[in-house]
Amino acid sequence: MRATAKKDTATGEVAMFDVTLKIRRSKPEGVDEQKPGKGYWQEFKVSVHATERVLDALHTIKWEQDGSLTFRRSCAHGICGSDAMRINGRNRLACKTLIKDLNPSRPITIEPIQGLPVLKDLVVDMEPFFASFREIMPFLLPSGDPPMRERLQSAEQRERFEDTTKCILCAACTTSCPVFWTDGQYFGPAAIVNAHRFIFDSRDDSARERLEILNDKVGVWKCRTTFNCTDACPRGIQVTEAIAEVKRALATGTI
Ligand code: FES
Repeated sequence: MRATAKKDTATGEVAMFDVTLKIRRSKPEGVDEQKPGKGYWQEFKVSVHATERVLDALHTIKWEQDGSLTFRRSCAHGICGSDAMRINGRNRLACKTLIKDLNPSRPITIEPIQGLPVLKDLVVDMEPFFASFREIMPFLLPSGDPPMRERLQSAEQRERFEDTTKCILCAACTTSCPVFWTDGQYFGPAAIVNAHRFIFDSRDDSARERLEILNDKVGVWKCRTTFNCTDACPRGIQVTEAIAEVKRALATGTI
C-alpha cells in the first residue's frame, strides 16, 4: 500500500501522510481459540506527521483502532529501554525511530524482539535476559572497609569503561545475536557489556570473579563477532569491541 501525502490546508505544505504498519501479533497460549499459541500479521493504516515516531503510530492504533494491541513503553525518549522491537527486520527503539526514515511508501513491519518468549503481541518475557544480567553481578564490589571519603578516579580511568555505562538494558543487542537465538543459555552481549562496565572500573575489586563467570561455555567465547549487536545498540555502544576487550582480559590475564 502506498504512503499518501496530504496537504495542510492553511500552509499548503505536506503535513501528514498515510502509512501501513504490519504488526506481528499473538495472544497468550490458550486465549485465542482460532490461533492457539500462533502468531499472525495484522495491518493497520494510520495518518502520521513527518515528525512522528513508530511509538506514536503504535499509540494511535492502540487509542483509536484496537485497544488490545500490546507493547511496552515508559519514558518515550530513549532512556528506559522498554520499547525495543524489530522494525523492518532490525532491532530498534520505537520511540527513537522516525517513520519517515523507514521508507513509509511500503508497509512497515513490526515484530517482537527475537530469542525471548513472546507473552503477547510485541511484549516478550525479559526474565531470561535479566537472569544473565544479574549473574555477572552488575554492581560495584570494592574490597576492604568503606573509605571515609569518595573513591577517586582519574578521567583516564573513567574513560576505560565510559562507553559501556551507556547501556539501558533494552535487549536490542542480545536479541539481535544469532548465537543467542540458537542458545538461550548464552549470556549475550548486554550481560557482557555490563560486566565490562565493572571489570574495567578502577574502583572495583571483583574483576577476576566476573571474568571467571564469563569464562563459562555459555560465556564470552560463544561470541562469533557478527557485529549485529553493535548495529542494533540504540546508544551507539561499541558492543563487539567491549566483548573483544573482555576476551582479551581473559586470554592475557591483564585488565
Ligand atoms: S520508551 Fe523508554 S526507551 Fe523507548
